[in-house]
Order: sequence, then C-alpha cells, then structure tokens
Amino acid sequence: MNRRLFLRYLQRSPLYALAAEMAGQPARKPLSSAKDALDVFDFLPLAEKNVQPQHWAYLMGGSDDDATVRANENAFSQWQIRARRQVDVDTVDTSVTLFGQKQAYPIWVAPAAAQQAFHPDGEAATARGASARKAQMVLSTNASLHVKDVAPAFGGPLWYQLYTQAEFEVSRALVGAAEQAGCTVLAITVDSATASNRVTAARGGQKTEQRCRACHGLTYADYYKEHGMFAGIDPLLAKAGGRAVTWTLVERLRAATKMKIVIKGIMTAEDAAVCLRNGVDGIVVSNHGGRSENSLQGTMEALPEIVETINGRIPVLIDGGFRRGTDVFKALAIGATAVGIGRPYIWGLSAFGQEGVERVLELIQTEFAITMKLAGTVSTRHISPMHVRRRNMGA
Ligand SMILES: Cc1cc2nc3c(=O)[nH]c(=O)nc-3n(C[C@H](O)[C@H](O)[C@H](O)COP(=O)(O)O)c2cc1C
Repeated sequence: MNRRLFLRYLQRSPLYALAAEMAGQPARKPLSSAKDALDVFDFLPLAEKNVQPQHWAYLMGGSDDDATVRANENAFSQWQIRARRQVDVDTVDTSVTLFGQKQAYPIWVAPAAAQQAFHPDGEAATARGASARKAQMVLSTNASLHVKDVAPAFGGPLWYQLYTQAEFEVSRALVGAAEQAGCTVLAITVDSATASNRVTAARGGQKTEQRCRACHGLTYADYYKEHGMFAGIDPLLAKAGGRAVTWTLVERLRAATKMKIVIKGIMTAEDAAVCLRNGVDGIVVSNHGGRSENSLQGTMEALPEIVETINGRIPVLIDGGFRRGTDVFKALAIGATAVGIGRPYIWGLSAFGQEGVERVLELIQTEFAITMKLAGTVSTRHISPMHVRRRNMGA
C-alpha cells in the first residue's frame, strides 16, 4: 500500500491526525465552514465528531474486515491518466445525457439509507445540496423521509432505488409512490440477496443494546416506523426476505411502472450480458461500497470486462470509492457513463447538512473539470480509452 493510500485509510479512523503528523502533513482539524474544505476528506473530522459512534461505524464499515471498501479505493491507483497537450480547453463541456436527461456532470448521488442518522434534515438536505450542484440524486428505499417529502426539496425528477420486499404488494406500493412523486428511473439493487456480515457496524453497536433501543425497535413493523418510505403501508405486510431479485420479479416490476429500469450491483461481464438480454435500460457496476460480499474486487477492476460486454448499448454507471475528480475521469476513460458518490456526501451532510453535501459535490465536480482540461479533453464525449493506461505494477 503506498503512502497516499495508507493515509487515506487512516483518515477514516480516529488515528488520522496522528498519521498525518507522522507523515509530516498538518493534521486535518474540524472545519468551521463547508467552504473551507479543500478536498472531501476535510469533512471527516467534523463529520465523525457530529455523528453517534454506532452510526459512524455503520457508515464507514463494509463486510468482514472491510477489505472490499479498501479494494474499491485502492483500485484507482492501478490506473494512470494519459494527458494530451496543446488542446484549447478554455471551455469544456462536462455534461452527459442519461436516460434522456441532461446532467451537468457525470456525477450522481448514490442511494444511502436512513440519512437522519447523520443530520436531522436527512434526505431533504441532501436533495437541496444535490439540486444546487445540479447532480442527480437517487433516493433509497430505506430513506428516513418519504419520497413525496424529498421530491420538492430536489425540485426535479429524482431516481428511486428499490430493495424488493418479501410481499410484492409492498414493492409495488413503494414503486407507485416513487412514480407519483415524479421519479423517472428505478434502480433495483441486486447485490443484497441476504444480509451481509457487517462486522465494523456490529462493533459500533447492536440494535439490541440499550443505547440503540432508545431509537430503534426490533420488529419489522418497527422498521417501517423508522423509515419514512413505508408510511401508510400495512405493518402486517412487513416481513424479512424478498431481497433475491429474480428476473421474474424484475418483469413484474417492469409491468408495474413506466420508470426506466436500472440494475444496481453488477460485478461481472456474465451478469452484464444477462442484463442486456433482459432489456434493462442501464446498469450500475457496484459492490454496495464494499458492504455486500467481501469479494476483494474493486468496482474499477470489474469495469473493463463489463464495458466490453455492454459495448455502448446501454449506460454503464459505476460507484464505489470515488473520492476525486481524477477517479471520475478514469472511470469515464475506461467507458463508464457516469459515477456515483456514496460516503463522501454523507460526510458533508454530517458536518454541515445541505451546505456540506453541496461543497462535496462542488469539490469533485471542480476537480473533474480541471482533470478534463489538463488531459486535453473538451467534452465528456472526448474522454476515451486513450486517456488512461494500466499502471505497470512491476515498475
Ligand atoms: C451508509 C450507507 C447506506 C447505503 N444504503 C444503500 C441503500 O439503501 N441502497 C443501496 O442500493 N445502496 C446503499 N448503499 C450503497 C451506495 O449506494 C453505494 O453503492 C456505495 O456507497 C458507493 O461506495 P462509496 O460509499 O465508497 O462511494 C449505502 C452505502 C452506505 C455507505
């Protein structure tokens, strides 16, 4: 692991200040204003301070020993940017068109559950921040707030992420509510057929413990009460299971909605090929931010074989470990259409609410535009495999 990666890793732990000092860098101190952040990692100290330790562990952790969280982040160092010179880059076009909608940047806000665990305004603050930066937001099934309350804060069509439920009737009700609130894209998460082994989160606190019981109930009906999207749904329908997404289930969902269907959680060329055969509108290369199986495969490592299989026929979105504009540029050069940001905007949300989300997105967008210019690419369409090479690991 090189020094930068080592530091990045430690920045996520309480040891980050010590590590920075040891590396001769000034320690990152809690920010007093979102505007002062120079990169997304600057939000970490204040975010960690503001959030309950159990929720912080839930946010930062992955599966088993969190190795796939690190694999996502480390994968970027395997790729180098091939910058082309002598191109007039005074004006660059950072936009992409996704499912018929023009997006200012190829950067979207990935679905993350229960955002009131991080800030009292929860998803409404994220929606306002994303909207201010013209970034597409994807709302989680397990959001703290109902889609009808988040949509006005976003002020445009949200995308909705679906965890299929044990009773199809519940899935249909969620999809119906999303559609009624103006959502245009349904991202069905397929990487969570069963609960994964979240060791870091469990160490942070178990729901059975007294300190958690103050806010969390233990039954599925309690779960409905804690997650706004389930408001109005009969608690008798609340049951465990139903997360294994078969193609029969996708067909039933497709028949129940006009939204575009995107499959989130693809990690192999084989599954990408099956998605194509089944006529979905797009896919998201994702391992749930290293929170699903502890595969040790970063999403950037899976991307090339998936891009090759899809061959431009549908958009290939990706998320997992994206923290820098250079990360976004590399994914586009390999062939991704757009990139999802997960944990970093939650750091911003935890630190400053809407303003934090806004600044996190602004930082990554700005870094991306700078990278485009320095690499000699005048529009996202011009970013191509020529602009990236795999590092010679023997060097
Ligand atoms: C706290 C947290 C909650 C998440 N909740 C959901 C969710 O409800 N639905 C979902 O499809 N993905 C969920 N994800 C996964 C993200 O959508 C995304 O795939 C991942 O966070 C990207 O990796 P990154 O955090 O390294 O950027 C969650 C991730 C985190 C960190």
